[in-house]
Amino acid sequence: MQVVTVGLGERSYPIYIAKGLLSKPEILTQHIKSNDVVVISNATIAELYLEKLQFLREEYNYDEIILPDGEQYKTLASLEIIFDGLIQNNCSRKTTLIALGGGVIGDITGFAAACYQRGINFIQVPTTLLAQVDSSVGGKTAVNHPHAKNMIGAFYQPQAVIADIDVLQTLSKRQYLAGLAEVIKYGCIYDAEFFTWLDINIDEILQCDTRYLITLVQRSCKIKAAIVSQDETEQGLRAILNFGHTFGHALEVFHGYENILHGEAVAEGMMMAAYASQYFGTLSNAESQRIVKLLEKLNYTIRKYSAIDLEKIIQTMLKDKKIEIPGQLRLVLLNKIGDAYIKTVSTEMISDFLSNL
Ligand SMILES: NC(=O)c1ccc[n+]([C@@H]2O[C@H](COP(=O)([O-])OP(=O)(O)OC[C@H]3O[C@@H](n4cnc5c(N)ncnc54)[C@H](O)[C@@H]3O)[C@@H](O)[C@H]2O)c1
Ligand SMILES: [Zn+2]
Repeated sequence: MQVVTVGLGERSYPIYIAKGLLSKPEILTQHIKSNDVVVISNATIAELYLEKLQFLREEYNYDEIILPDGEQYKTLASLEIIFDGLIQNNCSRKTTLIALGGGVIGDITGFAAACYQRGINFIQVPTTLLAQVDSSVGGKTAVNHPHAKNMIGAFYQPQAVIADIDVLQTLSKRQYLAGLAEVIKYGCIYDAEFFTWLDINIDEILQCDTRYLITLVQRSCKIKAAIVSQDETEQGLRAILNFGHTFGHALEVFHGYENILHGEAVAEGMMMAAYASQYFGTLSNAESQRIVKLLEKLNYTIRKYSAIDLEKIIQTMLKDKKIEIPGQLRLVLLNKIGDAYIKTVSTEMISDFLSNL
């Protein structure tokens, strides 16, 4: 078993990564500090994996709250369902919530844990690749507002993250590839050696080969943990995790959230960011091509956009919640693979760059 620690002083926690972890009760139970446990999941995942947590039912004062499946349920209404359940069951401040699911369930559960009685323990059991390498680590929790994603939330760290690699076998190819995009991001921004490892082994990785998956999740978590440990609340360094995301978020809005997965938009956004890094005179053509070619192996590409489309995309980028100076965008760019920096650029420059893509 691999264990990566997220080092945050008293709030440090382990990420366990291995095959078959859900069949090892003690991995989970060592982090449950009282008799009350509530599992939060969605209908799809519950059907596949809830029975694996049967031991909780036998050993604890157990309850489960099963939400409908989908990003559209990442809402205050779902939080209310959770709070109703917790109150009906007389859950105390000692209750532990267990998030069994992808990023949607993890984000909702984390935020519910942050709010209920001003904060109770929770454990992440991520079941998508994206959740195992990204959303379950680092303590960003949130729900969506009808007009904006992740607008209502808190920084709140879990007690532990339990990443059972076996659950990835039931994930759709599309979801798997979207998670891989975020993995490639880590290589781009922080670890050239990891990028090369991904590049060399991409065929086996695309086959979902478990031996490679363990390394891939472990190295991704290590990078995210290193970044989060240095900058938990995104005052500086953590922003490099947004590589490809300024473009990506705008692409999600442009294409419509129901038509494009986050990881797909980020993949396209990373290709744009690689070219932008070249445009701004840092990344070499050869390195930018390595990034583009690797993402193309996942069948990602930069789509064709008309001048009108590009204008819409830029206008959306200007509405990003992370903008500090009006009309100026903060882009995460690369000096080289493994070395990111942040540059403030004007709308005119972005417009010029995108129209010359
Ligand atoms: N907190 C963070 O730092 C952070 C980072 C990145 C993304 N996010 C959030 O994560 C969410 C996206 O997460 P996601 O990509 O995991 O999506 P998701 O949670 O919607 O899961 C994707 C789909 O896969 C299904 N699924 C999950 N596990 C499965 C399994 N093992 N087998 C078969 N199907 C399975 C789900 O039911 C769902 O239909 C977004 O809301 C995003 O905002 C948060
Ligand atoms: Zn992302």
